[in-house]
Amino acid sequence: SFFLIWRRRRRAFSVSLLSGCFSKNASKPPLCSMLRSVAAAVSRRELQSSALQRLIDDMINTMREYQGVGLAAPQVHVSQRLFVAEVQRQNPRYPDKPELDLLVCVNPRLTFLPALEKVSGWEGCLSIAGLRGQVPRATQVQLQGWNRDGQDLNLDLSGFASVVAQHETDHLDGILYLDRMIGLSTLCFDTEYERFWQRSEEPEEVEA
Ligand code: NI
Repeated sequence: SFFLIWRRRRRAFSVSLLSGCFSKNASKPPLCSMLRSVAAAVSRRELQSSALQRLIDDMINTMREYQGVGLAAPQVHVSQRLFVAEVQRQNPRYPDKPELDLLVCVNPRLTFLPALEKVSGWEGCLSIAGLRGQVPRATQVQLQGWNRDGQDLNLDLSGFASVVAQHETDHLDGILYLDRMIGLSTLCFDTEYERFWQRSEEPEEVEA
């Protein structure tokens, strides 16, 4: 039916940063300002609601549709503290990264191991389409929070998974990867990255 088609089309959000900035829908704040806001914690009651469960499903679909490895709620106009992450084999945007099982994390909290060295790796963001840059990140973090059923999550993440968790948790605090770059000298377009960087040896690559 028309309704079913319409629903299916709606399942993927627009995640472009600029589309939000120029939105004519004045009832919602522009996406760019939401991406710069501190998101609100999710209550257990909200998590149990069908609206929030549907949001999680839609975020997973959106992440997959855009071939991302993570997506935070503020990227889809929802200023609440949750993100989804997943690295599927042969993701064309991240072909060389290890797989990560689907992760839904509500109210994430990161604990950094003391005195751990940061390592620079390449990052991009679905909300800042077409760009990549090198960002120094901790290579190991402890991630705590809830899964989508409200059960406690407690994960030790390392390598790329740790970077994804940091990138997505940053989104909930209004921080973009650009803010974490030491300088902008490595900022480049995806096409430049693929031509000049991806094939070169990357001693600084996150996964050692
Ligand atoms: Ni992002």
